[in-house]
Amino acid sequence: MTKKIVLAYSGGLDTSVAIPWLIDKGYEVIAVVLDVGQGGKDLEAIQKKGLQVGAVQSIVVDGKEEFADKYVAPVIKANALYEGAYPLVSALSRPLIIDKLVDIAHENGADAIAHGSTGKGNDQVRFEAAIHALDPDLAIEAPIRDFHWSREEEIDYAKDHNVPVPIGKQSPYSIDANLWGRANEAGILEDPWNVASDDAWGMTVAPEEAPDEATLLDLTFEKGLPVALNGEKMTLANLIVKLNKIAGENGIGRIDKIENRLVGIKSREVYEAPAAAVIMAAHKDLEDLTLERDVAHYKPLLEQKVTDLIYNALWITPLFDALQAFIDHTQAVVNGTVKMKLYKGQAVAIARQSEENSLYNKNLATYTAADSFDQVAAGGFIKLWSLPSMVFEQVNHVHSVEKK
Ligand code: ARG
Repeated sequence: MTKKIVLAYSGGLDTSVAIPWLIDKGYEVIAVVLDVGQGGKDLEAIQKKGLQVGAVQSIVVDGKEEFADKYVAPVIKANALYEGAYPLVSALSRPLIIDKLVDIAHENGADAIAHGSTGKGNDQVRFEAAIHALDPDLAIEAPIRDFHWSREEEIDYAKDHNVPVPIGKQSPYSIDANLWGRANEAGILEDPWNVASDDAWGMTVAPEEAPDEATLLDLTFEKGLPVALNGEKMTLANLIVKLNKIAGENGIGRIDKIENRLVGIKSREVYEAPAAAVIMAAHKDLEDLTLERDVAHYKPLLEQKVTDLIYNALWITPLFDALQAFIDHTQAVVNGTVKMKLYKGQAVAIARQSEENSLYNKNLATYTAADSFDQVAAGGFIKLWSLPSMVFEQVNHVHSVEKK
């Protein structure tokens, strides 16, 4: 009996060539394109191309809303930025893609799953770790990792197997995109001293070319997630798509970064995540207004761990679930609206309110006659606050002079 394999298909040359390659290995191929908001491509044409190059079935799955609600949402709540900068764009789509591919494998009685990652990146780990977690009986094929082909050899193989080879000048870049952002590496970017040229960017204008007038907008959050833009309610996926456009036009969300990969390589990547830059700045600002101090100070320790788990392919783990439960609990009070100012590459919070959950008490903070803070109590508090160090100094005189 022929074996069946489900392939994570993008329509590009690599995963197209993978189809005859898998057929040669004795598989019947089911090609699956997951729409995670990568945009720019005609998914119907990609679906057709899958069949044309030999897949027995070619399926497009719309995963945009699920991607936003289940994969982007935890990143927003956790203020998750890998190495302080990268909002985990590519790391997020992999577990969703595998979730869908495993379902399709089960529905079709398939034996294996194939992905198009190379052997040098993080994505192979994310794909395969998710497969092992969801169904360790599924075999894994990684044709691109196993090819070891030069570009010329790949093109020859494609021509021999009726795989259309893109004509004209090829993009020198390796790009991965979804609605949360765009990652771009290779080409001239491989030299970290090369300044990224204009053609490296796809979602943003250069900050200096952004409008001279600032754009103000209100982002409303419920339980730590944005639910409305300028008062208009919309799904998270739609809100992100809308905001990508507005923020991108203001030159917001460009990240040019040397990054530590899980596999030990340092790589240079340029990212664009316009909506992420605005949403995450606004979310943090609203947390400052609504989280109690000790929660606000402790949460970043766990955020750091959550971020690393996502980046390092440990999405389906009990630790990730447990940390998410903590973070979800903290978000119950993160309700309100933040006014953001978008201007030439910057997104900053300039006003915020939370009718239900603001912990800002004007009568405590004010220097006017409305003051309700007990200033007399402060003196006693300070005496007890400094008591341990006072006693230590009296005994040891490390910083003080002993009185004769
Ligand atoms: N380095 C990023 C990550 O591991 C992005 C990788 C995306 N791939 C690309 N071809 N740019 O999450």
